[in-house]
Amino acid sequence: MEKAFTEALEYIRKQYKGTPEIGIILGTGLGRLTKEIEEEKIIPYNFIPHFPISTVESHFGRLIFGKIGDKQVVAMQGRFHYYEGYSMQEITFPVRILKLLGVKTLFISNAAGGMNKSYQKGDLMILDDHINLQTHNPLIGPNLSSFGPRFPDMSEPYDQKLIQKALDIAKEKNYRVHKGVYVAVTGPNLETRAEYRFLHRIGGDVVGMSTVPEVIVARHMGIRTFAVSVITDMCDPDNLVPVTLDELLEAANEAEPKMTYILSRLIKELD
Ligand code: HPA
Repeated sequence: MEKAFTEALEYIRKQYKGTPEIGIILGTGLGRLTKEIEEEKIIPYNFIPHFPISTVESHFGRLIFGKIGDKQVVAMQGRFHYYEGYSMQEITFPVRILKLLGVKTLFISNAAGGMNKSYQKGDLMILDDHINLQTHNPLIGPNLSSFGPRFPDMSEPYDQKLIQKALDIAKEKNYRVHKGVYVAVTGPNLETRAEYRFLHRIGGDVVGMSTVPEVIVARHMGIRTFAVSVITDMCDPDNLVPVTLDELLEAANEAEPKMTYILSRLIKELD
C-alpha cells in the first residue's frame, strides 16, 4: 500500500481507536447532521499527513468520529472539488482512508441543479445512477490492487436497498423526494442553456460538481454507497435566470432538515 495512506492511517489511529463502519461526506444540505453525532473525537484535516485542505469557505475541514444512535460513524466535514484545483487522487484520498478505518457504507450529500421539469427548487433527489462527464477519473494510473480491481463494476453504483428505504422514509414524512440520474461536471461555472439542454437529453435529471469521484473510488473498494442531492436551482434552458451563491445556499438550508432526517433514520436503522 502507498506510504501516504499508511502514514495518514497511523496518525488517525493514534488519535482514535474506534472502528467506524459508516462514513458520511457532509456536502451541501447535511451540515446539521453533525448535531446528531455524539462526538468522540474531532481531527482537523490539516493535522493528518497527506490530507488535502478545503479551500471553499462554506465547507469546514475535519473528521468527526462518534455515534449516531448505536452506530459508529466518521463524518467528513468539508469535501474537495475538482474545480478547486485538486487532483482526483487528492479528492478521493479521504475515501481511501475511510475504507482503511473500517467503513463499509458511505453516505454522501451534494447540491445540484434540477433539469427534470417535474422537480422543484428545494426538493431532494436520491441518486439511482450517474453520468460522469468530469474530465479525469480517480482510478487512472496504476491500479491499487490491494483496494480493488482494475476494471471495477458500475452496474449498481448506488445501493438499491438503501434507496428504497430512503424513499419509504420520505413517503412517510410527505417529503418531495425523487430518484434519478446525477450528471457530474467539473464546474466551476454553471452551465449554458445549450449545455443544460444537452445534459438533460443524455439522461441527466440533475447536474452537479462533486460526488462521482468519491463514489467511483468507494465502489472500487466495495463500499456500499448512498447519495442524495438537494436541488438548489432549476435549470430550464427555455427560462434560465442567473442564480447567486446566496440563493443556492438558501435553498440548501431550507432542504437541510429533510435531508438530515432521512439520513439519520437510514443510519440508525442500517442492518
Ligand atoms: N450546475 C452545476 N452544479 C450545480 C448547479 C448547476 O446548475 N446547481 C448547483 N450545483
